[in-house]
Parts: sequence; C-alpha cells; structure tokens
Amino acid sequence: FYKQFTIFPLSGTNWVGQILTDLVAIFEEKMQNKASSMNDEELEEFPYLEIGDTGKYERMNKLPSRRVIFTHLLPENLPRSVFKNKAKILLLIRNPKDVATSFYHFCKAMPPLPSYETWNDFFIAFMTKKMPWGCYFEYLSKWNKYAADENIMTITYEELKENPVLGVKNIAAFFGIALTEEELQSVVERTSFQSMKKNSQKTHGAFGNIFFRKGGVSDWKNLFSEDQNEKMDKAFEEHVGGTTLGKKLKYELYCKA
Ligand code: A3P
Repeated sequence: FYKQFTIFPLSGTNWVGQILTDLVAIFEEKMQNKASSMNDEELEEFPYLEIGDTGKYERMNKLPSRRVIFTHLLPENLPRSVFKNKAKILLLIRNPKDVATSFYHFCKAMPPLPSYETWNDFFIAFMTKKMPWGCYFEYLSKWNKYAADENIMTITYEELKENPVLGVKNIAAFFGIALTEEELQSVVERTSFQSMKKNSQKTHGAFGNIFFRKGGVSDWKNLFSEDQNEKMDKAFEEHVGGTTLGKKLKYELYCKA
C-alpha cells in the first residue's frame, strides 16, 4: 500500500509533498503505528523516485507502508506495478503559463539547470520541448489517459490555492486518512506559502528563496507578450483542449488576460 504523487516540476511539488507528508505523519502517530510510519532514517531517503543512486529502488521497495513517493515521471516511465497494484496516485497540475513563468525563474536561480539569456529564449525552449523533464503539454496529455482511474486523484494548484481547507480535506479523504478538523487545519496552516517560506531556511537551506518564490496565481501576466499568449493558447488547445485535465485547469479563467 503506497501513495504516489506525480507532478510536473514547478507546479507545487514541495507544497503538496509537505501536505501529504504531514497528513500521513499525524495519522500514523495517532494510530500509534510508529513502526510503520516514516521514521527519521526513511526520511533521509530523498522521496523522488527518479532521483538517486541505482540502489534506490531496492531500498524503496523495502520501506514499510505507508510510503509516500514523489515523481515527475510520465506514466509510461513508472514501474508497471504501480498501476497493477493500484497504488493511489495524486496528480497535481498547474496552469501552463504559471508553470512556464515559475520554471523560468527557477532556471535562472539554479546553476545546474540550463540558463536562458532572456525570457524569450526560455519561452522558445519551453514550447519546443527542449526542457529538462520534457514537454508540459505532453505530460498533461499522457496523464490525461489515466485521469478517470479510480486510483488517481487530480488536484490543481489553483483550486488548492483558492480553498486550501477543502483541498487538504479532499487529499486526506482520497488516501483514507481520517483526521479531525483541528488536525486538518494545522496541516493547512503549516503548509501555507508564508509558513513554508519562513521555514525554508531549515528545510531547503540556501535554496529556500528559490523554491518558495511568489506562491501565487497569474504571475505569467508579468512576462507573456501578446504573441506568446497566442502561441501558448494555441498549443494548449491542440494538445489538451477539451480533455479531462484540460477542463480541470480552467484555462479560460487562469490563462486568459
Ligand atoms: P512560483 O515560482 O510561482 O512562486 P515546485 O515545488 O514544484 O518546484 O513548485 C514551485 C512553485 O510552487 C513556486 O511557484 C513556489 O513558490 C510554489 N509554492 C511552494 N510552496 C507553496 C505553498 N505552500 N503555497 C503555494 N505555492 C507554493
């Protein structure tokens, strides 16, 4: 029994990862199930499926339930057992204009990533699939094929931002985590942008301000030109317009000026 959490980079991984980790930790402690909860040793294992040494799969295989595993991978790159064993998957998606905006600032601040001279250069790379982790539209369209599975829950960054209490409740319910209103509320407070940013020195060291930049919706309006808006609107329509995930993103509301 384990939980998978999948997401394209810069869509709120750290945020929802913290929500999920907190929910599980509180629940396990409450059930006095400490033996199977994530202990300090396990937490040392960086929770991303695709990041680490070759012995990582072996070690992750041995972790007791409940395992919370993060990934940016496409469904076709996940071990088949994830689907066969009906692991619960939380799919977090964010409006593509804010993903691009956030990704651009992230690349500028993170030297190991490709750096782009200008926003225009970045935009071209983003739209022509030349990004680390690939093309976001492809990510959406490939995951869309799984969106109706009963073991998959999709949540958008924007809906979580609009109503974090409801979002956290829905995530807890999906994973069968029964907590009181107060416990849920404490998770909401501890995972607010302000709290996480404040705590980021401790959790992310010198990278704190990079991972917790603005934490809002529509920052894309500060970067996109008319022409870029048109290009992205067209690409969105072509790749995911009318699909389940496409509709879930409420493109008209969040991505039109
Ligand atoms: P911005 O660059 O728009 O500020 P990831 O964790 O997948 O790399 O995503 C990073 C984005 O999530 C950044 O977006 C970051 O500020 C935002 N973020 C991180 N923690 C958040 C939180 N608690 N609430 C809302 N947004 C958050």
